[in-house]
Amino acid sequence: MGAPDTDPEAVAEAVLDTVASVAPEVRAGLPGRRRYLDGENPSGEDVLAADVYADDLLESAIGALDGVGTYASEERENAVDTGDGPVSVAVDPLDGSSNLRSNNPMGTVVAVYDGALPAGGRDLVAAGFVLYGPVTSMVAGVGAPEETTIREYLVTEDGEREAVDTLDLPNDPTVYGFGGRVPDWPADFAAYVDEVEDELKLRYGGAMIADVSQVLTYGGVFAYPALESAPNGKLRLQFEGNPVAYVLEGAGGRSSTGDGSILDAPATGLHQRVPVHVGNDDLIERLEAALG
Ligand code: AHG
Ligand code: MN
Ligand code: MN
Ligand code: MN
Repeated sequence: MGAPDTDPEAVAEAVLDTVASVAPEVRAGLPGRRRYLDGENPSGEDVLAADVYADDLLESAIGALDGVGTYASEERENAVDTGDGPVSVAVDPLDGSSNLRSNNPMGTVVAVYDGALPAGGRDLVAAGFVLYGPVTSMVAGVGAPEETTIREYLVTEDGEREAVDTLDLPNDPTVYGFGGRVPDWPADFAAYVDEVEDELKLRYGGAMIADVSQVLTYGGVFAYPALESAPNGKLRLQFEGNPVAYVLEGAGGRSSTGDGSILDAPATGLHQRVPVHVGNDDLIERLEAALG
């Protein structure tokens, strides 16, 4: 452990490098960990052995970095004090882990905040995700949300990031994917879906970052909206909503809770849920008009 680095963006780059460096090990450990464990996580949801395995790997690697003061994750009730560094890291160790049993894509989401948790999205200094798909890739940016550039990387078998391209949302959107059950959608959201489904193709796979990756690649909209049964939706702000909002806005798109940018949502807790809508600007603008 050298002298703690105090430049948040330098620490954030080290965090992204560390997430890439453990990605091959996370992926290699998935096959034997498809069983559900007893108990629930802080969100009251099932936990796979793979969720805990990935979380332990990431906590150990990220927590050891100079400059990281706090580690928090979907699978831990409370944040872990990992030193006296300037940044806090919130992680979704395996996003879409229910896809493991069906062998569909999933990923790891990371959010690096300058300051204590829970934090608002404007305090992000980096965010991104690893996608365990046909290839292992990373999409990420560093810097303040309004100034970041979002890049795609291939993650090599040695856990190195190889830059591929910068990501700019295509202007002619073609895909959409919405979570929740149709009867559980509030009427105003259902009316919006009626419009959008005539214009775009349905792409929904049950892992936020895999569905978001399709929107980033082809243009469109992803949402896990407010439901009649769950007015705050399903996705957690600290390690799902804020990081995907950072990525989509950084790539030239827009995010919304239904009432303004997700990055402006007040932070009230590590596991608070928030309605998530991300995609092309005009599609999100129409959503906000529909929910208005
Ligand atoms: P996680 O696996 O980290 O708990 O996240 C699952 C989330 C998100 O990845 C996805 O968009 C959503 O759950 C899917 O929910 P449904 O199964 O209700 O579609
Ligand atoms: Mn989960
Ligand atoms: Mn998730
Ligand atoms: Mn998860």
